[in-house]
Amino acid sequence: MFSWLLCGIIFNTGLCSFNIHCNQQDMHALLNFKQGIIDPSGVISSWSTKLDCCQWKGVMCNNITSRVTGISIRCSTTLPSYRDEEDKSHCLTGSIRLSLLLVELEFLDYLDLRNNDFLALQFDYVHNHNSHNLSILTSPRQCVNSSTLGHLDLSLNWNLAISNLQWLPYISSLEYLNLRDIDLSKETNWLQLVTMLPSLSSLNMRACQLKDLSLSLNYANFTALEVLYLSANEFDSELPKWLFNLSSNIYDLDLSSSSLIGHLPKALLNHRDLEDLVLEDNNFDGPIPDWLGEFEHLKHLILGVNNFSGSIPTNLGNLSSLITLDIASNPLTGVVSERNFAKLSKLKELDIYSYSSLIFDFDSHWIPPFQLEELVIGFSNPNLPAWLYTQRSIERLTIWESSFEAPNKFWNFVSRMTKVQLQGNLIDGNISNVLLNSTIIDLSSNGLKGSLPQLSPNVVFVNLSNNSLSGDVSPLLCDNKMLNGKNSLLFLDISLNNLSGGLTNCWKNWKSLVAIHLGSNNLSGKIPSSMGFLSNLTSLHLHENKLNGEIPPSLQNCRSLLVFNVRNNHLSGNIPDWISHRVMALQLRSNHFSGKIPPQICQMSSLIILDIAHNTISGHIPNCLPNIKTLLFNNVSKNKLSFSFPTSRNAYIYESDNLELVTKGRVSKYDRNLHFMTLIDMSSNNLSGTIPPQMFSLMGLSSLNLSNNNLSGKILNEIGNMKNLESLDFSKNQLGGEIPQSLSSLSFLAYLNISFNNLRGKIPSGTQLQGFTAFSYMGNSDLCGPPLTKMCFQDDKHKDTKLVGEDGNQYEFWPWFYIGIEYGFVTGFLGVCCAVFFNTKLRHAYFKFLNDLRDRLRVLVVVNMNPFR
Ligand SMILES: *[C@@H]1O[C@H](CO)[C@@H](O)[C@H](O)[C@H]1NC(C)=O
Ligand SMILES: *[C@@H]1O[C@H](CO)[C@@H](O)[C@H](O)[C@H]1NC(C)=O
Ligand SMILES: *[C@@H]1O[C@H](CO)[C@@H](O)[C@H](O)[C@H]1NC(C)=O
Ligand SMILES: *[C@@H]1O[C@H](CO)[C@@H](O)[C@H](O)[C@H]1NC(C)=O
Ligand SMILES: *[C@@H]1O[C@H](CO)[C@@H](O)[C@H](O)[C@H]1NC(C)=O
Ligand SMILES: *[C@@H]1O[C@H](CO)[C@@H](O)[C@H](O)[C@H]1NC(C)=O
Ligand SMILES: *[C@@H]1O[C@H](CO)[C@@H](O)[C@H](O)[C@H]1NC(C)=O
Ligand SMILES: *[C@@H]1O[C@H](CO)[C@@H](O)[C@H](O)[C@H]1NC(C)=O
Ligand SMILES: *[C@@H]1O[C@H](CO)[C@@H](O)[C@H](O)[C@H]1NC(C)=O
Ligand SMILES: *[C@@H]1O[C@H](CO)[C@@H](O)[C@H](O)[C@H]1NC(C)=O
Ligand SMILES: *[C@@H]1O[C@H](CO)[C@@H](O)[C@H](O)[C@H]1NC(C)=O
Repeated sequence: MFSWLLCGIIFNTGLCSFNIHCNQQDMHALLNFKQGIIDPSGVISSWSTKLDCCQWKGVMCNNITSRVTGISIRCSTTLPSYRDEEDKSHCLTGSIRLSLLLVELEFLDYLDLRNNDFLALQFDYVHNHNSHNLSILTSPRQCVNSSTLGHLDLSLNWNLAISNLQWLPYISSLEYLNLRDIDLSKETNWLQLVTMLPSLSSLNMRACQLKDLSLSLNYANFTALEVLYLSANEFDSELPKWLFNLSSNIYDLDLSSSSLIGHLPKALLNHRDLEDLVLEDNNFDGPIPDWLGEFEHLKHLILGVNNFSGSIPTNLGNLSSLITLDIASNPLTGVVSERNFAKLSKLKELDIYSYSSLIFDFDSHWIPPFQLEELVIGFSNPNLPAWLYTQRSIERLTIWESSFEAPNKFWNFVSRMTKVQLQGNLIDGNISNVLLNSTIIDLSSNGLKGSLPQLSPNVVFVNLSNNSLSGDVSPLLCDNKMLNGKNSLLFLDISLNNLSGGLTNCWKNWKSLVAIHLGSNNLSGKIPSSMGFLSNLTSLHLHENKLNGEIPPSLQNCRSLLVFNVRNNHLSGNIPDWISHRVMALQLRSNHFSGKIPPQICQMSSLIILDIAHNTISGHIPNCLPNIKTLLFNNVSKNKLSFSFPTSRNAYIYESDNLELVTKGRVSKYDRNLHFMTLIDMSSNNLSGTIPPQMFSLMGLSSLNLSNNNLSGKILNEIGNMKNLESLDFSKNQLGGEIPQSLSSLSFLAYLNISFNNLRGKIPSGTQLQGFTAFSYMGNSDLCGPPLTKMCFQDDKHKDTKLVGEDGNQYEFWPWFYIGIEYGFVTGFLGVCCAVFFNTKLRHAYFKFLNDLRDRLRVLVVVNMNPFR
């Protein structure tokens, strides 16, 4: 007793720490728990008998009793640059032996395994916790009865699926439960089970693939619930009645992105104390109710991206505690005036933008009661509201679909902000003398004139694409007195303007650049050798200009390059044989490149796009192409061409690269889906010889175009191996022989052109090949059979006529069928695409993307990920 007291007194000096001895039972329990874990990077290597278990990493003990009370092992991950998936290979995986912990660690209060990569949760029901016998039980009533666990966080273990939550009620002491991003789609009874936790005050089931909101229930027995996050699920229903009939008051409610419908019910007022109401990205309709003005404690009201109509009630101006008001992207109408904001003195973030355009009618002398940090507006008036200039703390400004003149005062005003998104407005102004100073600035698709502006060293992302800027690039790249060698520019997009002159030799000032978009201007001269200084450059787009000369060898120093696009220029010389092996997309189309295809091209083992069409390249097609592994096996998940990188603590820029490609006989723009495309286009060159047999082993290839060359020889039967082929064009060559029967087994093939060759014989029958029209086969004088009108007389005449006679209608039907298949494919493909997005932490980015689609605008997506949810 005395020694305990003494310890209590001198504990803080650390003298008594020798008295904290790990309890043996606790230690064995932890070691048992460790058995289920796979720990690739040795995170819990300290968990061994050599060390007192109270000193193990992530283990917390009570100072007095020295019993284990907490385990907290979060994995720290950062989004790696230019790839959109977090690397979790160093995180804990394996299974979580939860019942073992609960039974054996009698004093465990806190368990946090957030953001690891666990794959299974083990909960064995046990007879009696005193026997420590972990055998599976029939009636688990008394087992974890004594659990003391209050805090359980298993969130962000994305690959974890829990098939049932039957075990939850046995942790009756639970107050905080976070299962975010765990797949709970198999547990349909989730609501009933969580309501059996009498002390539960905070529940997070964000993105758990829940579908059922128990609409029939009038009442839910939550007695202590205060915080409820059910966002990013797939409810597809109205708000359930039970939500408004609880024995507790919710103050933080997040139901965003869950396909909810209907009007907002007035019963929401039962949760009088609401501070956070987050309902964005659903399909709620009707008016924004004026009774929302009665929530006097409301701090964050987020109703954006819904179908609310009517005008914005002035009652919202009563919400004097409000910090965030987001009603953007709803079809709201009417007038917005100072009366809407009368008492909002605490407001920091305001999002009011409607795609059916709001009329701003503010007193020109009005001084708002707030100082905003973030503002998103869109208005149909011809001028910026005067009060904007009273806002001295705005960090982030977005203006949508508005038209206004931007005087120098405006540019000085925005230069203080970190993020300025003004794309897709009709901003009229001459920015020759402007200095851009924001970290992120998007001025694309406006009516800006004059020469390029200057950039301060703060700028990380600048998009000036699709304006009427003229002059050369030197004001931005060379004449910059601000820079003295230091800057942080990663993304530069000045494409689609009227810029002229050369590319300058000033690139060594901009070594941090990752993506350069200079396409669709009038730029001329050579590609400067100073671009070789850009060692982090992943994406270079110089297409549709008048560049000439050869590609400078210095570009081999751009070792990070993934996308190299110079299509439609006047470039000449050989295809470089030194291009970085990492390159994934090489587009040299429509230039004057000559010489042979260098075999070194086969060393680009990640290549998915090889487009050298419309040049004067001669010689044979190299037979080493199967060395390009990505063309051999189509592993779409590895071909990511989207980039994300942190810009601040919880914000990410999310960008996907894009290319225009010719496939299926037409030009298509690929961006978010670029990595799904694997393409070789060598059309319209002077290639000769045969198509090397190895080419037919490229099973990953989706589009192959060798048309308009001098290729001879046969189409080999091995073409049937190219199962992913969707588009095949061999037209305008001298290919001979018969069409191999195996061609008809390519079930994805949606476009075929083998016209104008020397093919002969009968077009193989079978649904596939007759689905194409005669245009696919014409110009082969010895080819016969449907869909050509020429009959094959050497064949069994009787059979053939019978076919034609019977199928007269069917041939009309097939083209439609193929259009159907094509659409089907597109939809299926979108499905894949969405699944990819939905399985990553960037779900929010996807949602923003949808939002953008709705706004019919392409936006730079900056993802704010709330770390606490
Ligand atoms: C136990 O130790 C922690 C950390 O040293 C300290 O913050 C806490 O106050 C201590 N508790 C008691 C009851 O001494
Ligand atoms: C644990 O339970 C199993 C099956 O019920 C039994 O065979 C075993 O003997 C028990 N072990 C102990 C230590 O009680
Ligand atoms: C269940 O918990 C109660 C109260 O904490 C306790 O009195 C009882 O002994 C426990 N039962 C078992 C089987 O552990
Ligand atoms: C609600 O839960 C409390 C505490 O668990 C319990 O006492 C009460 O009987 C329950 N009420 C209903 C209607 O289920
Ligand atoms: C709320 O729940 C109680 C208790 O189950 C029930 O009697 C009542 O009808 C419910 N109220 C509504 C509006 O559904
Ligand atoms: C939005 O609501 C209107 C009625 O106000 C309705 O006609 C329209 O179909 C709804 N839009 C969507 C996308 O649900
Ligand atoms: C709320 O605002 C409306 C309109 O602005 C006003 O008529 C009403 O009196 C206000 N209510 C309170 C409680 O302040
Ligand atoms: C440029 O930005 C920096 C930091 O972002 C800021 O401190 C500075 O005041 C800005 N300069 C101008 C002229 O607005
Ligand atoms: C710049 O803006 C244009 C038009 O808004 C868009 O198409 C392009 O992708 C943007 N560039 C980058 C690098 O985001
Ligand atoms: C833009 O302003 C500059 C300098 O003020 C001027 O020289 C130039 O002619 C202007 N350009 C246009 C298109 O108005
Ligand atoms: C290139 O990228 C790396 C990793 O992101 C970074 O550490 C380095 O500073 C960058 N180089 C330049 C010149 O910005």
